[in-house]
Amino acid sequence: MIFEQVATGGCQSYLVGCSDTCSAVLIDPEISQVDRYLAIAARDGLRIHYVIDTHTHADHFSATQALAKRLEVPVVMHRDSPAPFVDLRLQDADLLRVGNLRLQARHTPGHTRDSMCLLLNDRIFTGDTLLIGGTGRTDLPSGDAGALYDSLFIGILKLDPALRVFPAHDYKQRGSSTLAEELATNPRLQNTDREGFIAMMEHLDLGAPTHLTEALRINMSGGKSVAQLLGEAAAKTPFVSLVDLKARIGDGSDDLIVLDVREREAFDAGHVPGAFNLPRGQLELRVNDVLPDPTRRIVTLCQFGKISTLAAVSLRELGFLRTSALDGGMVAWQEAGYPLEKTG
Ligand SMILES: [Fe+2]
Repeated sequence: MIFEQVATGGCQSYLVGCSDTCSAVLIDPEISQVDRYLAIAARDGLRIHYVIDTHTHADHFSATQALAKRLEVPVVMHRDSPAPFVDLRLQDADLLRVGNLRLQARHTPGHTRDSMCLLLNDRIFTGDTLLIGGTGRTDLPSGDAGALYDSLFIGILKLDPALRVFPAHDYKQRGSSTLAEELATNPRLQNTDREGFIAMMEHLDLGAPTHLTEALRINMSGGKSVAQLLGEAAAKTPFVSLVDLKARIGDGSDDLIVLDVREREAFDAGHVPGAFNLPRGQLELRVNDVLPDPTRRIVTLCQFGKISTLAAVSLRELGFLRTSALDGGMVAWQEAGYPLEKTG
């Protein structure tokens, strides 16, 4: 077996391959690591056949959909997953064949209704059902403390105690443990009474995970994160540096249109000398009047350099093929002490 654990902060993902056939499966991939997974697979001569999420993640952005598209392989989740992009929905005890490996799904609702653990030879991928020294929380959408108790105490904790536990989260870089170790030392498992366990889970008083709303939106719908949308836009336009823009406005030539896409008020309060104002929200409506010559060189700018990137992409799509976006925004421009002009 070829086995690689990839950590992204506390999030753990796993690339597991069959050494006889070079077939592999990827478990709980995270969006920022897409290139790393593909690089590891290439390095080890593996072909990924399935991308699996052990459950609907509320705390990180899953890469299953992006990888499935790129590799033309199915997204695998439990059948209770709300995500519309799941190609292969597993039920309890279903096996996935990956070369000579057999990965078995165990439905373990509790952290979420669609949680499953994956059994493979001497190990179990526990998602957020069982963590090292902890369990997944049960206070997020579709969580159920009673169901988690059953999934643990009537479910996976009855398996071979020697099984190695590989969770979806581990913030202390411990890598793995075993069921026996968890049974002996995991504080959440010491309360073996169902009512007591539920009461404990309901009084944990945890803060909401960062990105909760956005992660759930994306992982449940297959939509994009704001960062992803901006990243894709940034790949479609060139940029102009702050230093170059400053040099250009100083040289007196007017071959460059500096297009400030912020709202009028922000523009009036201080803008790059000689800039035009065309708010992003009015861009397509007024572009024909404000920018009659598509051969002119344009640089878009805004407060932080994000909306101006989207504006530059829109302008390029409209045929303004010499459009760039400012690499930075007015905040950086001001911080650099560059000249400002005010209106009124
Ligand atoms: Fe989770």
